[in-house]
Amino acid sequence: MRVSGQPTRPIRAAPERDAVWVIDQRALPHRLVVERLADVAAVRRAIADMWVRGAPLIGATAAYGMALQAGVDASDAAIVQTAAHLQSARPTAVNLAWAVQRMLRKLLPMPQDERQAAAWDEADALAEEDVAVNQAIGRHGLALITAIAARRPGPVQVLTHCNAGWLATVDWGTATSPVYQAHAAGVPLHVWVDETRPRNQGAGLTAWELGHEGVVHTVVADNAGGHLMQRGQVDLVLVGCDRVTARGDVCNKIGTYLKALAAFDNRVPFYVAMPTSTLDLTLADGLAEIPIEERSAREVTHLAGRLADGRVAEVQITPDGSAAANPAFDVTPARLVSGLITEHGIVDADETALRALMLGRR
Ligand code: MRU
Repeated sequence: MRVSGQPTRPIRAAPERDAVWVIDQRALPHRLVVERLADVAAVRRAIADMWVRGAPLIGATAAYGMALQAGVDASDAAIVQTAAHLQSARPTAVNLAWAVQRMLRKLLPMPQDERQAAAWDEADALAEEDVAVNQAIGRHGLALITAIAARRPGPVQVLTHCNAGWLATVDWGTATSPVYQAHAAGVPLHVWVDETRPRNQGAGLTAWELGHEGVVHTVVADNAGGHLMQRGQVDLVLVGCDRVTARGDVCNKIGTYLKALAAFDNRVPFYVAMPTSTLDLTLADGLAEIPIEERSAREVTHLAGRLADGRVAEVQITPDGSAAANPAFDVTPARLVSGLITEHGIVDADETALRALMLGRR
């Protein structure tokens, strides 16, 4: 998508195939900082410290990490160890493991001297596939938005949580892809953007993206969603996901579950944009089985922002000595999900539909 009119992606492989360039998302929305990652340690740090974040993007970044490793030591032992090291950077989004395991499946059967070139090819292919998948999700999700637009006058009111935008993927985003496609098709719409404490991916990233694409949006405090839905000000909730189980339980950024509850109570459709790389058919009960990342308490006790003089600073918002907890994701049970928007079409959040969807596709 675009930044100040320029096509921009959050990740690009260096043409020399010796590094990968990423947007350091910690600096947004105040500064656009691009960093060069030239080894596995840098890639892992960028994932763990959330320079790059969002389920599909951390998968793509890790794939390039595997390619960087293959240029240093492409032995079985080295690439298997690197895979485990990268995979452990963040536990919840299954795309990370999915991407790393795909790289291993590609590389391990190959002669060692062919692995470096093959690894870069595979990482490039994975990244480009992500773009195509997200475009397809957008096409399917567009139908939902146009159906609402056809029913009544005025802009379609979409509410989204966290950032499932192009910054979280290689391009287009998942939950934002239908929004961008509707906007491009001239469908009037307005997006309520949950700020998404504690890291404010909505306020800092989704709002920034939508602004650069000219999509009308309003940032709201996380707790505003239920109120807006009660007043009929939300037509559709559209979120991304980090892991979806075989029976359709959806793990996504902390706070998603509360939005799903409010949507259910107010009969607002709650759709999840899900590339099939986020589907984990090895798990059934999301609540019991999905590992939930616990991040630093400092993300809760402190906030970063721009001062009046333009400097970016961090401030403490809690009393000295107060404990803070920071579970980064929650699980929305399948019964609260209206549907999953995949690259192959919209499916019910249930085991029969998901297994049928995947039959013959892997
Ligand atoms: O902790 P983050 O910022 O990596 O969490 C991101 C989310 O929860 C997104 O909603 C999800 O990864 C979908 S991204 C297309």
